[in-house]
Amino acid sequence: MRISTIGCGYLGAVYAASMASIGHEVLGLDVDQKKVDDLNRGIAPFHEPGFEKVLQDALEAGRLRFSTDYSLAADYTAHVICVGTPQLIDAAGADLTYVHAAVDALIPYLAEDAVVLGRSTVPVGTAASLRERLRAAGRENALAWNPEFLREGFAVEDTLRPDRIVYGLPEDPAESARARAVLDEMYGTMLENGTPLVAGNYATAELVKVSANSFLATKISFINAVAEICEATGADVSVVAEAIGLDDRIGPKFLRAGIGFGGGCLPKDIRAFMARAGELGVTEALGFLREVDHVNNRRRDHVVNMARKELGGSFTGKRVAVLGAAFKPDSDDTRQSPALYIASKISGRGADVVVTDPAANARVHAERPNLAIAADAYEAAAGADIVLLLTEWTQFKELDPVRLREVVAAPVMIDGRNVLDPAAWREAGWTYLSMGRP
Ligand code: UGA
Repeated sequence: MRISTIGCGYLGAVYAASMASIGHEVLGLDVDQKKVDDLNRGIAPFHEPGFEKVLQDALEAGRLRFSTDYSLAADYTAHVICVGTPQLIDAAGADLTYVHAAVDALIPYLAEDAVVLGRSTVPVGTAASLRERLRAAGRENALAWNPEFLREGFAVEDTLRPDRIVYGLPEDPAESARARAVLDEMYGTMLENGTPLVAGNYATAELVKVSANSFLATKISFINAVAEICEATGADVSVVAEAIGLDDRIGPKFLRAGIGFGGGCLPKDIRAFMARAGELGVTEALGFLREVDHVNNRRRDHVVNMARKELGGSFTGKRVAVLGAAFKPDSDDTRQSPALYIASKISGRGADVVVTDPAANARVHAERPNLAIAADAYEAAAGADIVLLLTEWTQFKELDPVRLREVVAAPVMIDGRNVLDPAAWREAGWTYLSMGRP
């Protein structure tokens, strides 16, 4: 299948390279010349394990190229919208500017039998409105929605071996059959391997995506709310999570208490979902997501308060080492990162903050010039009055408490991700504090 992806950010670039790796001819389109040039040279514009290899192999095989020339789309059959849908600057809803621009840029070059597919996370109702947009421009092309579920850090694996494939198909039977035929061919390898396929209408497919992310966010905030109760009672949230997770109706995943969720998806998706519910006149249906958001924000401030207390009530003149800046390990993405929020807040209150992250140091340096950067945990912790572990990179989980103790001014560790062994750290002379554990 000849596939063009519109948007070569994280989602589009990983999708383009992954689809080329299973034999499709793929063209990645983007308006950003530098990004396109990097990708054509096999350079990943972001940190994603395994991506650069898939990219380079596909380029070498001659099945993948990137361009800013949208007229090339005329030779392709499936056009996949992969652009971002960030939160609006002044409201909770999703900004659809890039989605509309992607469709408008395609319209002049759509071949008669071409199919337009959407993978971006969008508010329910968007696919129907994009179909209208095509019709208003005199285009009769089939349009379908095909949400993605990839996780940063596992993006290639999640694209090539997804838990499920979802089709949101148009009502018109002939249009639906055309879209389905193209989708079935695109995902032939995965469907043959037994990947479950779930099909519904546009609204259903759009809702699958936002419901999945909202459920995951709810699970995290649920266990973080339990962590608050644990802190008030002396219970241990990690044992509670382990025990409830053994019930296979609940399951153990996404029950890690800590400083909460961040990233370019979960926080903005729950807000956009609430905003859309408001537009649809069913605000109350998602009222609980407001609480999910509140619990999540409270955890970040809780760490700031814990650190201040340990430092005797004030950050002024104190040196604080922050281990981790990305919103999760194996990523350099700092969007809505709880770690960076905490580092910035503490810096704003007068502390001398030194951050280190195995992948996000350059990004932090560019975006938060007030934060000092260190090459690794030992350098960051040198002379520190307190150390905060905020992103659970393997490098930090494997830190040697004896060696780290030698470089700090005071051995106080707040483990915001509950990943260190409390006994080992206490034995090495540290005051060790974590989230929802005694
Ligand atoms: C999320 C979803 O997991 C993907 O399925 C979805 O496709 C993606 O958003 C998207 O919409 O594109 P991602 O943002 O990569 O993926 O990150 P997650 O692995 O979901 O983690 C989100 C945040 O939750 C991280 O900050 C992580 O540290 C935190 N988290 C996760 C916890 O605090 N506790 C947990 O138990 C799990």
